[in-house]
Amino acid sequence: MPYPYVLLSAAVSLDGYLDDTSPDRLLLSSPADFDRVDEVRASSDAILIGAGTIRADNPRLLVNSPDRRAARLAEGRPEYPLKVTVTASGDLDPDAHFWHTGGEKIVYTTDPGARRVTELGIAAGVVPLGPELDWHRLLGDLYGRGVRRLMVEGGGTIHTQLLRAGLADELQLVLAPLFVGDPKAPRLFGPGAYQEGRLTLVGTRRIEDVVLMTYRPAVTPADHHWLALACDLAAQCPPSETAFSVGAVIVAEDGTELARGHSREGGDPVVHAEEAALAKLAAGDTRLATATVYSSLEPCARRASRPAPCARLILDAGVRRVVTAWIEPDTFVQDADGNGLLRDAGVEVVLLEEYEGRAKAPNAHLV
Ligand SMILES: NC(=O)c1ccc[n+]([C@@H]2O[C@H](COP(=O)([O-])OP(=O)(O)OC[C@H]3O[C@@H](n4cnc5c(N)ncnc54)[C@H](OP(=O)(O)O)[C@@H]3O)[C@@H](O)[C@H]2O)c1
Ligand SMILES: [Zn+2]
Repeated sequence: MPYPYVLLSAAVSLDGYLDDTSPDRLLLSSPADFDRVDEVRASSDAILIGAGTIRADNPRLLVNSPDRRAARLAEGRPEYPLKVTVTASGDLDPDAHFWHTGGEKIVYTTDPGARRVTELGIAAGVVPLGPELDWHRLLGDLYGRGVRRLMVEGGGTIHTQLLRAGLADELQLVLAPLFVGDPKAPRLFGPGAYQEGRLTLVGTRRIEDVVLMTYRPAVTPADHHWLALACDLAAQCPPSETAFSVGAVIVAEDGTELARGHSREGGDPVVHAEEAALAKLAAGDTRLATATVYSSLEPCARRASRPAPCARLILDAGVRRVVTAWIEPDTFVQDADGNGLLRDAGVEVVLLEEYEGRAKAPNAHLV
């Protein structure tokens, strides 16, 4: 299922805090930066904040500029972006500004949370997502409502979850020249496991006395979409007792699908998924240098059926990024380590283990 483009937006102190512990909201940004945030809001279809930020800051979350609102209307869009919040407890103040200003509102919550939100008479659409909130379902649901660009304005627990899950496309971080110095204050990112790898610094901009830094995370929602497709392709392979069923998709930097393939495609009993996909592109295709290969299984490092294993084919094609779901088990080859071969050659290899079950399913008879 496709997801909206997810933009995380936050301002932090030099010591990494989002706020102090006083009851009033700490102003971290500068006036010109607040205006920039207003512009980003105006460009978004929806704005999401956590219930903690509604309780702490009681924000209105509006597009303040009348010109920007008029421009939205002229484009046939609603005057204000959809306002979205998430809560497990449902413990929200029905009188909060969030519900009584701006455009449409929607609350994503758990089944018990939905009962509480309804009891409280909160003026918003309520979407229960089961016993726990599932971010994939939330993003898919927003996409289904026409949201293509989602701005997330915190707080820290929300940003942390989306970044860790690889569900953010962009992080716009403003660094404010002041210290909070109170360890009880809320931090932007909490401790725990994050996606491996460095974020890509896309841009920096000085705005009065703050600096805006824009990053692209190591894993983005598009990676989920394409790897899920590769797993679906694996399920379409003619079954075999002597080889894995694998799916692969090659996607250009701008998100265009360049080619796809699957094991034993087109009646070739030994062709591999990545090999089949690469064979559909011209050898010197310049888009390959910035493309990503999505493969349900780690690209092979050795094979009996053809001289070049898929890891070699990927390197020869000039591809610099591979996303995969499942490390090759020792069923046919011992210690294959195609990912290692690619990494040694400088390729960025991302393993999204949450898709391992889907990649394995069509191979259950082999492992
Ligand atoms: N500087 C900035 O740019 C900025 C931006 C935003 C906020 N802030 C500051 O950040 C602070 C609030 O941050 P926060 O981290 O405490 O709160 P938050 O991230 O805004 O909200 C956390 C709440 O969201 C709900 N939630 C989060 N993940 C959920 C999940 N997976 N399932 C269900 N519900 C979920 C829970 O609500 P329930 O407890 O209701 O279940 C949780 O308590 C405030 O001090 C605010 O001023 C600063
Ligand atoms: Zn292969």
